[in-house]
Amino acid sequence: MSGRERVRAETPARIVIDRDFTVGPIDDRIYGSLVEHMERVVYGGIYEPGHPCADARGFRTDVIGLVRELGVPIVRYPGGNFVSGYDWEDGVGPPSERPPRLDLAWIARESNEVGLNEFLYWAKEAGVECNLAVNLGLRRVDAARNLVEYCNFPRGSYWSDLRVAHGVVEPHGIKTWCLGNEMDGPWQIGAKSALDYGRLACEAARAMRRVDPGIELVACGSSTPRMRSFPDWDVTVLEQAYDEVDYLSLHTYFTNTGGDSRAYLARSLEMDRQIEAVVAACDLVRAKVRSRKRLSLSFDEWGIWSREERANRDSWSWRWKEANAVSEGMYSFEDALLAGSMLLSLIRHADRIKIACWAQLVNHLSLFSCAAGGPVWKQTVFYPFAHAARFGRGIALALSLSAPVYDAGELQGVPVLDAAAVLSKKEDEIVVFAVNRDLSRPLPVEIVRRGFAPFRAVEHILYESADLEAGNTREQPGRVVPSSRTGAELAATLDVEGDTVSLRLPAASWNVIRLRRSEARDVEPPRSGR
Ligand code: AHR
Repeated sequence: MSGRERVRAETPARIVIDRDFTVGPIDDRIYGSLVEHMERVVYGGIYEPGHPCADARGFRTDVIGLVRELGVPIVRYPGGNFVSGYDWEDGVGPPSERPPRLDLAWIARESNEVGLNEFLYWAKEAGVECNLAVNLGLRRVDAARNLVEYCNFPRGSYWSDLRVAHGVVEPHGIKTWCLGNEMDGPWQIGAKSALDYGRLACEAARAMRRVDPGIELVACGSSTPRMRSFPDWDVTVLEQAYDEVDYLSLHTYFTNTGGDSRAYLARSLEMDRQIEAVVAACDLVRAKVRSRKRLSLSFDEWGIWSREERANRDSWSWRWKEANAVSEGMYSFEDALLAGSMLLSLIRHADRIKIACWAQLVNHLSLFSCAAGGPVWKQTVFYPFAHAARFGRGIALALSLSAPVYDAGELQGVPVLDAAAVLSKKEDEIVVFAVNRDLSRPLPVEIVRRGFAPFRAVEHILYESADLEAGNTREQPGRVVPSSRTGAELAATLDVEGDTVSLRLPAASWNVIRLRRSEARDVEPPRSGR
């Protein structure tokens, strides 16, 4: 480890948790994802008629199986940038009558073979809730309120009766709605100034909520903290729409452009900073508009843009085709470590973040991939996500963490240990998630519990790889997979003495340490929502 280093040789890093100090309940929806009409996410991803695993409606059941295994509770749809040029009416009614369109966001052809009702059929099969985005790029209030009427109004009005005529008798009952996408970005079709967007979001929210008062609405915050207008955009938008919306959105993607892995793994600290800045912006506006409501956040796009994916898009040969594999890539093991740290950041801010969506589910920036006519395989980032989605449900515990630190460029004092702790919903399990950012040395760690009944260690899930660049591919789908230590193997590597658990986290590793209340039976925790 080079650079400024305040490291003990063998002084353990320490995590202290106390039953009386909690961040708050974790909303399961922080383990959401995104399905956008782009590249092979929909066509050739979730939908591939003729594939041996396709169901009667053309959706791949092997993909659905992985979504269920991941434990994703909510999926944002249909974009992303795509939504800003999308006419939702094109995607309903008899498929043979649907117009093919040019998708200006991704310079692609959109057949409209998959539209709203098809996606919502898929969502039901996959056991996920839909977070539906409306087009506030090229369209305005009218299209948005009609869409709510089509989806959620029981019947007896033009748009709800049209839904019934399309064979969907029961309303879809979509609860969460995004008011556009990344409206501050010059790349966005119909991008707007903060003031114009704030007014439009406010008007759309009012009209949509008149149709269905039960819906929840997400206004677009800055599309990235790298925008010069961050966080002024957020403040101006909220000054217009604070009382009409329930959430403000955040987005961020990281890429290891410089090839410096230590600096790359530290970048989750930027995510912490971004969240804290947006919370401050929300609370500032709350004071300015004298609202009693405290706004929540929807981190509805987060993820990693791999180097490979960026490089492919430089070629323009892919233009105006459907289901192009333009920017598909393989995630490396170090991408999984950073993804793990980003998940920990979400958990640690569970008091304000109520929704988060990994972008995206399949084939593009994806948790898993699938080959046309072929198999599915899990990307490295699949594993920390699946562990967090499974074991990170319940109450986020506040933690006091002490660990050696290092400097990485602009990020100073980066702890080599990153961690979050969760008390399960039944309060019978404490799960500590931890990343050792030290690339060359194992890290001794003590986990100290205060104010809890006796707990014992039942499992240490360990994800490590000697090669940070290694990843999973169609040819080698099991190259980098986690392992699990239980029983005698666990006892040989982890010590429990009173309220302290001691173990060593291997260099560059993702760890899930499960402690179970002593009187609790040795059964797997239920998978929430299913
Ligand atoms: O996930 C891909 C794209 O990244 C989304 O369409 C957009 O919202 C973001 O810029």
